[in-house]
Amino acid sequence: MLDDSKPSIDWDSLTFSFTETDRMFISKCEQGGEWEDGIMQDYQDLRISPASGVINYGQGLFEGMKARRSEDGRVLLFRPEFNARRSADGCRRLGMPPVSEEMFLDAVRKVVKENIRWLPPCGRGELYIRPLIFGSGAILGVAPAPEYTFLIYAVPVGPYFKGGMNPISLKVSDEYHRAAPGGSGGVKAIGNYAPGMMPSKNAKSEGYAEIIYLDAVNHRYIEEVGAANFFCVKDKIIYTPELTGTILPGITRMSTIELARSLGYEVQETKVDVKFAMTADEAFCAGTAAVISPIGSIEHSGEVAHYSDGGIGEITQELYTALTDIMNGRVEDKFGWTPEL
Ligand code: PLP
Ligand code: COI
Repeated sequence: MLDDSKPSIDWDSLTFSFTETDRMFISKCEQGGEWEDGIMQDYQDLRISPASGVINYGQGLFEGMKARRSEDGRVLLFRPEFNARRSADGCRRLGMPPVSEEMFLDAVRKVVKENIRWLPPCGRGELYIRPLIFGSGAILGVAPAPEYTFLIYAVPVGPYFKGGMNPISLKVSDEYHRAAPGGSGGVKAIGNYAPGMMPSKNAKSEGYAEIIYLDAVNHRYIEEVGAANFFCVKDKIIYTPELTGTILPGITRMSTIELARSLGYEVQETKVDVKFAMTADEAFCAGTAAVISPIGSIEHSGEVAHYSDGGIGEITQELYTALTDIMNGRVEDKFGWTPEL
């Protein structure tokens, strides 16, 4: 029985944090076999072998996407087919059976529908959808697990960075890297995230919102922010690190580039030298959780670059407004990016 009562939640104080919701999707697949159809069930803990591939060797990936409620009451997703495709690429990289786009999208829709009471009212937050695919079978040697689980849960969320659209301060790490050529930086492997926790926590204790990672070969080109892609603007040209396999090909990044070009801006996907970024006029980061978050300052090797006089850069604001207007169904979606549930 679906519970359609209102959850006791203060929508206006939502943050990006965990709240248990009602229902989750789960399916399994034997190595070499096909994914079962899967079922919806009440949100619950899992029973998993202590020898499972995911617990022992980190064989797993996740996705992150959002559903929003528009003013006229529609429920909108945002380019979910790209999350499906990225998860399939990730599965291939991590030796796991890919989930078909059709199955992925169908499961996402079921999870949103069966947790609809957790979807915040228009403009007051989003329902964050978290697909997971991982090796759940037992394996002792370092090899692909004999069984896989595909699971989706959903959580109502507010802004990823404290203060929402307030410019954040970031610190460039000279000490830590997120990914190296040939590694797993280009897919959403769960193992990419734990090594960033300690550097990120240290930066937060110094008052920064996050770390910016540099490339692991030259230690000078910006890769990305902990969990979002990096952009800067100089003389009205928009720059963002090119996709070389070490950064995540963000769906917000791709959409920001397409949107900026459609608004007449030149966008360069290129190597972004940290020294160049320190001289930019504006900077921001982009991701599903972060949406578009303005960067107020960046610290690197004792120097601090301040952007947009502590405010939100003009182009950053224009892109934020254009993107969130589409995401929230406030304008006609000429791109076809927001399928209805
Ligand atoms: N980079 C990393 C490391 C991320 O975890 C994310 C979040 O998904 C992004 C970038 C942004 O990607 P997307 O816009 O698809 O959410
Ligand atoms: C996302 O933007 O979906 C992310 O994955 C960010 C983070 C919570 C890991």
